Amino acid sequence: MTESNFGYEKIGNKEHSSRVRGIFNKVANKYDLMNDFMSLGMQRLWKKTFISSIKSVKNEDQIVIDLAGGTGDIAFKFLEKFPKNNFVNIIDINQEMLNEGRKVSVRKNLLSNCNFICSPGESIALRNNYADILTIAFGIRNVSDRKKCLEECFRVLKPGGIFICMEFSMPKDIMLRNLYDIWSYGFIPKLGKLIVGDETPYRYLVDSIRTFPNPEEFNDMIIKAGFISNTIKQLTGNIVCIYRAEKP
Ligand SMILES: C[S@@+](CC[C@H](N)C(=O)[O-])C[C@H]1O[C@@H](n2cnc3c(N)ncnc32)[C@H](O)[C@@H]1O
Repeated sequence: MTESNFGYEKIGNKEHSSRVRGIFNKVANKYDLMNDFMSLGMQRLWKKTFISSIKSVKNEDQIVIDLAGGTGDIAFKFLEKFPKNNFVNIIDINQEMLNEGRKVSVRKNLLSNCNFICSPGESIALRNNYADILTIAFGIRNVSDRKKCLEECFRVLKPGGIFICMEFSMPKDIMLRNLYDIWSYGFIPKLGKLIVGDETPYRYLVDSIRTFPNPEEFNDMIIKAGFISNTIKQLTGNIVCIYRAEKP
């Protein structure tokens, strides 16, 4: 049986998937609000940098996949920055998160530019060579089989397509790392209790960041999936990394 880390616990992929679904079920309706509190607003800046890092040769007529897209925040930011005739497929394993996203898309008048698909990242329900861009923000860490997921990202992108992934990582500077640990373990679960009424999802979040591969290891996994021209951009003292690569 293939296993993955659920925080520090090693469990089978099937159980991992179902526990991750449970975690996001609990937080779906407060997800965006909680993100702002936890990151002290930094997530908005990170996501802005992420969208700017896509650097596609064209700005219109693009098919995008936002994998592990949750409530669609990345998809909507993309469509707001590039409003001309682009289309985003928001894919997530969790229907509750997608339902929240659909409500936001209606409010933002973006529903006709989006498609919401409930599907696991390990077997994306889309054809080969389909998309120009695939984004995955703060999602790959939660995926049960990351190798399979990266292979799927490769499969669904067109040749020349852009893969762009943003994920947490651990600060290298020891002072920043200590502060980060105090914030992560001392405050984030308490905020979770206050805002969502449960601290368990946020204990999982802080542990999962610590058990995710370091940037060099994760970049190697992207290369092994077949991607080329890889770059890693480190933000806020390495708290977040943006991985960009292309399908040859
Ligand atoms: C931290 S949220 C990120 C949401 C969004 N990308 C953002 O930046 O706000 C992680 C998302 O990954 C989804 N997820 C977890 N495992 C998945 C999988 N195997 N396949 C697809 N989505 C998955 C969760 O349901 C959740 O919506």
